[in-house]
Amino acid sequence: MDSKEFRKQAHKAVDWVADYLENIEKYPVKSQVKPKDVYDQIPSSPPSAGEPFDQLMKDLDEKIMPGITHWQHPHYHAYFPANNSYPSIIAEILTAGIGAQCMVWETSPAAAELEERMMEWLKEIMELPKNWHGVIQDTASTASLVAILTARERVTDFKINEQGFSTDRLRIYCSTETHSSVEKGAKIAGIGRENVVKIPVDSAKAMIPEMLDEQIQQDIANGYLPCCVISALGTTGTLAFDPTKAIGEVCQKYNLWLHVDAAYAGSAMILPELKWLKEGLELADSFVFNPHKWLFTNFDCTAYYVKDKEVLLKTFEILPEYLKTKTRGQVNDYRDWGVQLGRRFRALKLWFVMRTFGVDQMRQVLRNHLKYGQWVAQQIDENDSFEHLTPPKLNMVVFRRLEEGLSDSELNDLNQKMLEAINASGKAFLTHTKVDGKYAIRLVLGQTYLEERHVEAVWKMVLSANLKKS
Ligand SMILES: Cc1ncc(COP(=O)(O)O)c(C=O)c1O
Repeated sequence: MDSKEFRKQAHKAVDWVADYLENIEKYPVKSQVKPKDVYDQIPSSPPSAGEPFDQLMKDLDEKIMPGITHWQHPHYHAYFPANNSYPSIIAEILTAGIGAQCMVWETSPAAAELEERMMEWLKEIMELPKNWHGVIQDTASTASLVAILTARERVTDFKINEQGFSTDRLRIYCSTETHSSVEKGAKIAGIGRENVVKIPVDSAKAMIPEMLDEQIQQDIANGYLPCCVISALGTTGTLAFDPTKAIGEVCQKYNLWLHVDAAYAGSAMILPELKWLKEGLELADSFVFNPHKWLFTNFDCTAYYVKDKEVLLKTFEILPEYLKTKTRGQVNDYRDWGVQLGRRFRALKLWFVMRTFGVDQMRQVLRNHLKYGQWVAQQIDENDSFEHLTPPKLNMVVFRRLEEGLSDSELNDLNQKMLEAINASGKAFLTHTKVDGKYAIRLVLGQTYLEERHVEAVWKMVLSANLKKS
């Protein structure tokens, strides 16, 4: 393909994306294909001669799109969203075109310096502690792994980095509700899943700090080396909020690293009225949230903040001759701030999103989402056929349908069937969790293109799925 052909096809591709997003409501939200449907349509070998581009686009429509779940559909209410927006998409096109690999400042000074500024912009609009330093990671899982590794090195005085593991058995603490990325991080960091201690939660599914304190004391008495605590602001299952301040005080007592995982809910910190979210956050050593979830910046873009930059750098830096530069020490070489050497130019899309939306509009969209969450929570409150299974928080409700005379296990079946019926209709996509053994439907109202009419429509779907069943 030459530049003339590229110009022609790329313009068509942009039109394709605009048409796709304009017409997204015509697609079934959750892909309806069966395993191997797509695989079997793709030839077993690549073509030896190049094919016409138009044929490729035709195959995209016919073979690939049926196997896509439409995350940008306003009726995407599953898991947590991975939102895009037009400015973010444009920035991704430009990033691909520029094609820079941004491992150190000298491999693209603008990328490093824009990243530094964007992390400052986010810190300012979220009113995060001023002494934090930010870096963009690919995902929250990677950011939490970085936190675990940094905590591991701090508590062992960088011994494991240098000599590998000795006999110390390190301990990581989190609640029973914490995201699985913590266990994965413990596996990768060589600490081991068995040393991830799950602290019990209260009725709102938030970690009980007194039990954390007791567990740490017990572990010390038994010869373990407590390493870090991971607390959550917005758990995946039920959007529970661990009490950061009380947990931070326990961490201070034992000099433990506190990492706060706010992967989804962290974006809500751009709203000044939600100050409660940040109570005690200054006690954290590190903090992660995903602009790629709820801040209109398409996947992947994770913001990771750390208080003690030097410990982070000491954990990750490594300096072979071929990476030595004259500017080292005067600039941020982000390869030292995490696992990867090669890095994408992710700051560009944050810049495009924040400048195109403006902070006021970003806040307005999130406020709308919170209002939608409250409206659905109220419908559940006012309808005896439903109950909340955890207190509604921000823009997510966790609920189930009730029916007189049915046992919990029969209600589990009923609610599962209801969820499957909605998803099979293609009109919306919701997912579930279990709360104390009860099958719970999670409804998340956070998609970029969500409007009031969709909120009313999805609630009607829930009601009519129930009517069919009763
Ligand atoms: C609370 C929480 N932490 C971590 C993650 C992992 O996020 P990522 O996909 O960016 O690794 C998620 C994903 O939904 C999450 O909800």
